[in-house]
Amino acid sequence: MIARWLHHRSRIPRRLRMLVALLSAAGCLTLVSQSAAAGSNGSQPGARAPLTKLPFAPGPGAETVPTPTSPTLIAEGQSLFDERCASCHGLDLQGRRGIAPSLIGVGAGPVDFYLSTGRMPLANYRAQPWREPPAFKRRGIEALIAYIVHRGGGPPAPTADPSRGSLSLGFRLFDENCAGCHSIVARGGIVIGAQVPNLQRATPQQIAEAVRMGPYLMPHFDATQLNQHDLNSLARYVLWTRHPENLGGWGIYNIGPIPEGLVTWFLGLLSLVIVIRLIGERTT
Ligand code: HEC
Ligand code: HEC
Repeated sequence: MIARWLHHRSRIPRRLRMLVALLSAAGCLTLVSQSAAAGSNGSQPGARAPLTKLPFAPGPGAETVPTPTSPTLIAEGQSLFDERCASCHGLDLQGRRGIAPSLIGVGAGPVDFYLSTGRMPLANYRAQPWREPPAFKRRGIEALIAYIVHRGGGPPAPTADPSRGSLSLGFRLFDENCAGCHSIVARGGIVIGAQVPNLQRATPQQIAEAVRMGPYLMPHFDATQLNQHDLNSLARYVLWTRHPENLGGWGIYNIGPIPEGLVTWFLGLLSLVIVIRLIGERTT
């Protein structure tokens, strides 16, 4: 049937077809110029941030996770570190210029964040660290935290309690501080120089740690910018985005702006084929 429709001679008069062609061309141009304008705002960092960005210490009244201090864990952590981390971060945690930052003073938060999200140990020091299944079981992570904090010092890990946060405040703060990169539904995206992950798997503690330390190109926020109640609220909002109610429009499974954009492209291309068929004419 489609083949017949594609091959039959058009019954629409030539002038009308010309008009449709001009109108759709003008429509396409406005759409393209609008989406280009929309894409050009939003915060976009220019280049990779300096390697060591010490995390902000927890503010007054902040919730923190106790740092493990047992001598057995510290000893276990040391052998794991020497084996899996020292080649880049140095045997004394001092870092290696151009390869990996020093871990002196980073404290428990970044270590827990990078290990529990599987970002470390990094395979290639030039690559952006990315979320993967963790390389260590929880005990190995605790051991590395114990050793690195014992050797290098630094603040305890921050955390957040979504049940004490406010959803509406979380939405507002996320919109102001995070959505420019992570998209308002926390599905991630791309900024210049980095891929931005979706937040579908981050735990409240990982959210608090990311906010205080700012992994990779992400900025970091101290307690005067986002206090503990703000952190709790952000965590509550991020958890909420995993089961959003779709108020109108097509949800398309909330897959994120890039794939949703592809769906739009697909629909657009399909309608172009139809328009082309309406205005075109077979000459053979
Ligand atoms: C191939 C080299 C490499 C290996 C191996 C490696 N790292 Fe890293 N690490 C890096 C690089 C590069 C960065 C900086 C990443 C960034 O810019 O976000 C980093 C960053 C970190 C940070 C954040 C530091 C900061 O300034 O906030 C922590 C914590 C960390 N690594 C822990 C570890 C631990 C623990 C191991 C071993 C289990 C490990 N790394 C193994 C290269 C490596
Ligand atoms: C300039 C862009 C930018 C902004 C603004 C930003 N982030 Fe990020 N965020 C990133 C990037 C890039 C990463 C990935 C870092 C990496 O590769 O290690 C990230 C990672 C994360 C992660 C880890 C996700 C995971 O599961 O591994 C969390 C959680 C997070 N951000 C939360 C936030 C919150 C909450 C805010 C607002 C307070 C925020 N981000 C603001 C760019 C941004």
